[in-house]
Amino acid sequence: MSCCQSCSLQGTNDFFSSQSKRYLKTFHKKGLGKEQKYLLEGIATLDIQGCTALEVGCGVGGLHLTLMQHGVDYATGIDISEGMIAGARQLARELGLEKRVTYHVGDIVNLNEHIREADIVLLDKVVCCYEQVLRLIEVSSKKSVRVFAFTYPNPNFLVKISFKGLIALGVLLKWKFRPYWHDWNALLHTLETYGFTQTYNNSTIMWNICVMKRVK
Ligand SMILES: C[S@@+](CC[C@H](N)C(=O)[O-])C[C@H]1O[C@@H](n2cnc3c(N)ncnc32)[C@H](O)[C@@H]1O
Repeated sequence: MSCCQSCSLQGTNDFFSSQSKRYLKTFHKKGLGKEQKYLLEGIATLDIQGCTALEVGCGVGGLHLTLMQHGVDYATGIDISEGMIAGARQLARELGLEKRVTYHVGDIVNLNEHIREADIVLLDKVVCCYEQVLRLIEVSSKKSVRVFAFTYPNPNFLVKISFKGLIALGVLLKWKFRPYWHDWNALLHTLETYGFTQTYNNSTIMWNICVMKRVK
């Protein structure tokens, strides 16, 4: 646990808010990233017409807003970063979807009681940005009625070394935000014990993509 949780949340907010304009520009220029396209592919194999979605760590919203263009009826986005949520609101307006989406600024673990369940819960490149990952997974997965879809760092040598290097640099330079390397297999196992089974997986050099459906 960090010495001060609110410092760590403030560090996450500051870091990702400083990146939010770049995220929005990239989405405007290129649309979804490769991992997001894989998530979409995996989720589309399950019937999503008329579903609701909750995206945790939603960034500027490209993923859930695209899902809405593919049949999702209503979405909720939550992110610790104020800048990311401002970007998501802007993108929702641009796409004419703002009346069918609700945004929250904050940590899902802290805002748990204010966040509604959804058919599909998404976490794209989020589990490596939060120290208490098992709590994050517990809270987020309990919000999922049907589908839990997420990406996590591909645990190959190259990615592991890059993450560990960044983490060490972060400690050395006292960065307010730094990434985390967790036991990704334990995380998958935890989701299985919560009643999910994997229906789709794929990978890029950097990320593993996993779509699970609730079976109990
Ligand atoms: C690497 S960014 C990814 C953003 C977006 N999912 C994407 O792929 O474009 C991770 C985001 O997760 C958010 N985040 C991390 N932990 C969170 C939590 N516990 N609750 C809400 N947001 C969280 C961060 O603020 C950050 O914006």
